[in-house]
Amino acid sequence: MTLSGMVLFLSWLDLGMGCDVVLMQGELFHKTFEIFFGDGIFNVDGELWKRQRRLASHEFSSTKLRDFSSVVYRDYSLRMASILSDASATQRVLDMQDLFLRFTMDSIFKVTFGYEIGTLKPELPDIPFADAFALTNEIASSRFMNPFWKLQRVLNVGSEATIAKSAKVVDDFIYDVMKARNAENLQNSGQRDLFTRFKLLNEGGKELTDKTLRDTLLNFLIAGRDSSGLTMSWFIYMMTLHPHIEQKLFEELRDLDTENVVNGDMSSKELPQTGGDDYFHERVERFSELLTFDALLNLQYLHACILETLRLYPVVPLVILPPPRDSWLSQKFWQHFKFFDALDMMRNARILTENFLRTAFSG
Ligand code: HEM
Repeated sequence: MTLSGMVLFLSWLDLGMGCDVVLMQGELFHKTFEIFFGDGIFNVDGELWKRQRRLASHEFSSTKLRDFSSVVYRDYSLRMASILSDASATQRVLDMQDLFLRFTMDSIFKVTFGYEIGTLKPELPDIPFADAFALTNEIASSRFMNPFWKLQRVLNVGSEATIAKSAKVVDDFIYDVMKARNAENLQNSGQRDLFTRFKLLNEGGKELTDKTLRDTLLNFLIAGRDSSGLTMSWFIYMMTLHPHIEQKLFEELRDLDTENVVNGDMSSKELPQTGGDDYFHERVERFSELLTFDALLNLQYLHACILETLRLYPVVPLVILPPPRDSWLSQKFWQHFKFFDALDMMRNARILTENFLRTAFSG
């Protein structure tokens, strides 16, 4: 629970920094991913990118969104805790990565579209949208390794026939959700999700179109779902490999808990006195209330553990930045491609200073 809050919080900080560097995705990237990313932030350049970046930076650094997202992540974390405790009681085996991806999907969908998608219900249902989302992402990415994808698309065969269907399931679902949300009285709803906020923006006297909203919000979902879900999976894996680190982390969290009981912010006297399910759920819920953005800032050991996980298993290990077309002729071709191979760089001790390397898992 704490982990999920912290991973998502770090990402929030990253976006809130307001960096103004122009990145080039390029035409090849745009065409390959258009079916899924549309004209969202990951798939556009120049002014379109700048505009979305400005919008994202502004929104992600607003306290309103932070407060709202804290509540959403806490709520879904509690559902995840409940699923885990039930599984533990019944000795049911769970796939943690699947669970984390359900968690990130549900929480980011709620923060972006303001809608409850439900993959994290106790019975862990298969939701067609979530499956189609994952499939579309996978096939669109594999186009880079498939020289025949355009031909397959024209003939509507193989993976291109599949992606045509899955992308439709994604779009139909998103547009249905937006239609339902549009029917609400958003002006006075008091909702703080991004859909509502963007809808009320009225940039230059014009409302954002449904297509712009679809692209903008879906890109946040794409950005946050796998990156955070997979980092959490690696994190849990690292903890199982390093029980002494897990113990230290537990102590940091226990200290946070103890401090608050001592300061009177959380009274253990009011808790059900039995050690049964009620006690456990109440206890977890009380503890989750301590995990505010400010409290997370002070959990330095947790922070170090997440950074170390990202260093060893960076979930976005490669960023490709082709140059603008008109500069190609005047400069050497390869100098313009910045292949940022984080995996290699982060594991390569020659590049990093000793201080940086002395992080959680090294003791
Ligand atoms: C462990 C979690 C995450 C990691 C490791 C991660 C990593 C990255 C990386 C490496 C980039 C590319 C930066 C570049 O091109 O220079 C990026 C971009 C981006 N990330 Fe994340 N991210 C994470 C979570 C999130 C979350 C939760 C969100 C929001 C819901 C998010 C939203 C974005 C957006 C919108 C961009 C595009 C920024 C731009 O083009 O200006 N990320 N992320």
